[in-house]
Amino acid sequence: MIIEGLLRFARNDGTGNYTYRNKLNQIVTTSDGSHTIYVPELDEHYHSIHGAVQESDFIFIKSGFEFCNANPLNILEVGFGTGLNALLTAIRSMKGKREVNYTSIEKYPIDEKTIISLNHYQFAGEAGKEIFNLIHSSPWNINVNICENFNLTKTEGDLTIKPPQGQYDLIYFDAFGPDKQPEMWTKEIFSSIASVTKTNGVFVTYSAKGEVKRNLRACGFEVSHLPGPPGKRQITRAVKI
Ligand SMILES: C[S@@+](CC[C@H](N)C(=O)[O-])C[C@H]1O[C@@H](n2cnc3c(N)ncnc32)[C@H](O)[C@@H]1O
Repeated sequence: MIIEGLLRFARNDGTGNYTYRNKLNQIVTTSDGSHTIYVPELDEHYHSIHGAVQESDFIFIKSGFEFCNANPLNILEVGFGTGLNALLTAIRSMKGKREVNYTSIEKYPIDEKTIISLNHYQFAGEAGKEIFNLIHSSPWNINVNICENFNLTKTEGDLTIKPPQGQYDLIYFDAFGPDKQPEMWTKEIFSSIASVTKTNGVFVTYSAKGEVKRNLRACGFEVSHLPGPPGKRQITRAVKI
């Protein structure tokens, strides 16, 4: 099923520079029934078409949130997008009574019409809809308590221009793929991420590309690959030495 909505998104002009433009985007239903967004300019989806919620849960929750021992847990996400990772993390932190401070960086916040078309809350249990609404209605660039144990700061900004601030136990690296957005997967970017990752902090991402792993190693991470969720052979988890 495809629903169309308005998305203010970026266009790659072929030089690696992105410019704003208004564009019709498509909400696509993935194999587990959850929605993702398709970006025609990049020919890229926000999540795996084999299951958006399944992918997010496997990579960021099971391989990151559950692997990292820190409590309280300071998370930095690159690419807030639909807020799916934030939603699943909020639910887990609430259920597990684990305090989470979640900071997310997003260059192109999605518009309200698209947000209200997304069905992610249906996969997040009883409190899903309320937390989904609170996450999306919370103001940008301010720390907000969303629910018990979950504090959120959505930061509007461009990671390639403005390095992240703070110190984090866990990094959810969820930019568009290295083939579509190579400027997000460089040593320079990983070096700025390394500088805000605590020793023994954990970095998780869906890409297992060789160059990504080499760049992470060069920036002080011990890198391992794990079997991926359906449709993805491997993913990467790295620990800051
Ligand atoms: C794969 S999608 C995000 C998935 C998101 N975590 C979700 O669950 O919907 C990648 C996101 O990175 C954002 N992004 C792209 N370039 C960026 C940049 N330079 N700085 C910050 N965010 C960026 C995109 O706008 C998009 O929302």
